[in-house]
Amino acid sequence: MKLHNQLEMPIVGLGTFRSKPEEAYIAVKTAIDAGYRHIDTAAIYRNEEAVGKAVKDSKVKREDLFITTKVWNSDQGYEETLKAFEVSLDKLGLEYVDLYLIHWFKGYDKSLSTYKALETLYKQGKVKAIGVCNYNIHHLQHLIDHVEIKPMVNQVETHVFLQNHKLQEYCVNNGIQLEAYAPLFSHNIKETLENETLNLIAKKHNKSIPQIVIRWFIQREIVVIPKSVTPSRIIQNFDVFGFELDDEDMNKIRKLNAARKIFPEFDNVDF
Ligand SMILES: NC(=O)c1ccc[n+]([C@@H]2O[C@H](COP(=O)([O-])OP(=O)(O)OC[C@H]3O[C@@H](n4cnc5c(N)ncnc54)[C@H](OP(=O)(O)O)[C@@H]3O)[C@@H](O)[C@H]2O)c1
Repeated sequence: MKLHNQLEMPIVGLGTFRSKPEEAYIAVKTAIDAGYRHIDTAAIYRNEEAVGKAVKDSKVKREDLFITTKVWNSDQGYEETLKAFEVSLDKLGLEYVDLYLIHWFKGYDKSLSTYKALETLYKQGKVKAIGVCNYNIHHLQHLIDHVEIKPMVNQVETHVFLQNHKLQEYCVNNGIQLEAYAPLFSHNIKETLENETLNLIAKKHNKSIPQIVIRWFIQREIVVIPKSVTPSRIIQNFDVFGFELDDEDMNKIRKLNAARKIFPEFDNVDF
């Protein structure tokens, strides 16, 4: 997907939340070998060193990869974020990151001071794109009203049970790329895997349910970052470019939308 500054962001990436360093190293290597060019990590995942080492050890050129990391809540604020970024960059062992995100909304003042640091890093060329996670329309609008460079990405919980159509419309209208985290319903993935509607669509296409869900995101033009530390699943989750869901499939999946959120509400996170 093309971001509003023309940077190309691969639509499918590998998530690494809850991936231990030794797992993350193998997962990232497997993913890059399987064709992934986009990896999502964060300071709080405590696996940036492993992710960076796997990137270094891969045969793919740095400029062909898209690496995201995020500033953690306790590091928000202008100076704090600049410092936290250097720590992340050092752990990753990289010269730059492709996308630097604010991990959670921590109030309007923090939002602006932290974002200002992201703008500074962007102007210095240390990050190729900047954005946020866990922002709703009112958080994004406040940011847009007060900053120089509009955020390029908003990464939020999105899955078949929480489809975020309104937020997507707002993002599209404002040139912000929506990115789905917990796309398979995260620790509740069992519910996705047992869903009868998805099961029927999967059988029809001779694909797995996770492949159907990932394909659904691609057709909605939402960037998606399924996480796995299991090599066969990592490979399977990227094998989603050779088939298409039809309108009937898309409409059936749309009916699963149920506003079911499993991560905290954005306005009052207490961590
Ligand atoms: N910005 C934020 O606040 C935020 C919050 C949460 C997540 N994220 C990002 O989004 C990424 C994805 O979200 P997530 O990790 O919470 O959840 P997810 O990707 O929805 O689900 C991950 C779970 O699905 C399993 N899985 C993956 N592919 C599978 C397959 N083909 N068949 C069966 N099971 C499969 C994984 O198991 P195994 O690993 O055991 O294979 C893991 O238990 C994270 O890793 C992280 O990078 C960001």
